Amino acid sequence: MTSVAPSDSDLAGRVALVTGAGQGVGAGVAAELASAGAAVAVNDLQAERAERVAADLRAAGGQALAAVADVTDFDAVGRMVHEIVDRLGPVDVLVNNAGIPADGFALRPFRDMPVEDWDQFVRLNLYGVLHCTKATVDGMCERGWGRVVTVSSEAGRMGLPSGVSLYGAGKAAAIGFSRHLALELVGTGVTVNCVALGLMAAGPDDHRRPPWPTARLGEPADVAVAVRYLASAGSAWVTGQVLGVNGGAVTL
Ligand SMILES: NC(=O)c1ccc[n+]([C@@H]2O[C@H](COP(=O)([O-])OP(=O)(O)OC[C@H]3O[C@@H](n4cnc5c(N)ncnc54)[C@H](O)[C@@H]3O)[C@@H](O)[C@H]2O)c1
Repeated sequence: MTSVAPSDSDLAGRVALVTGAGQGVGAGVAAELASAGAAVAVNDLQAERAERVAADLRAAGGQALAAVADVTDFDAVGRMVHEIVDRLGPVDVLVNNAGIPADGFALRPFRDMPVEDWDQFVRLNLYGVLHCTKATVDGMCERGWGRVVTVSSEAGRMGLPSGVSLYGAGKAAAIGFSRHLALELVGTGVTVNCVALGLMAAGPDDHRRPPWPTARLGEPADVAVAVRYLASAGSAWVTGQVLGVNGGAVTL
């Protein structure tokens, strides 16, 4: 039997693009993929953040570059991917992580949410995913190997009373798109999966004890290892799935 156990270098020679990777979960995912041997394009809307994370990865011995673009802008994403291909090579692994607007967002019941505020959630969580997937997936199919991993949320799989209806709708849309795309791509060597995150710690000093089995909030490293698995060669038989990374808060 052929072994599919991932090794430390299971992404050696691969190029990964991680969106919204200038801080938080995305920065953790970028570091994990770099430590697995991938050359990493660190995307963010905010140049300073992307450059800092890319510099940290290079200082740790990895290959990385900052890829500054707004994922809600189709043309900007196209230009960014061209630059990545020129400088690192074709994108093998896409991690659609950008999902929270740069200035954050207020929790607000649907009835109190102005129509003008709806669009940002859908543009970032659905169109951002579509733009980056469109710009990279043809190349993956042509080369016969690729991984698309989208960072969704349990708010996209369940109802919550906390004022996140539009955010949850955007996250659910990304899950729906991923499930369909996964089946369209069966046989191409490209898998498409999501991780659905539970509540993450706001920073290293956030020690709130939530009322779910593990009694702690998520850390970027918790997500990064899950994404690394879905990005690895060993996960070839896993596609169209949503992996809950939520401390046991939700079991679907
Ligand atoms: N934080 C949580 O509790 C939580 C829970 C469930 C799911 N998630 C999901 O995890 C992912 C990462 O969340 P986080 O908490 O690390 O976010 P964060 O806000 O800490 O970081 C997100 C980064 O994305 C960048 N960004 C925002 N809009 C962008 C755009 N249009 N183009 C490119 N970059 C953009 C921001 O500048 C920022 O650096 C998101 O998809 C989020 O929805 C987070």
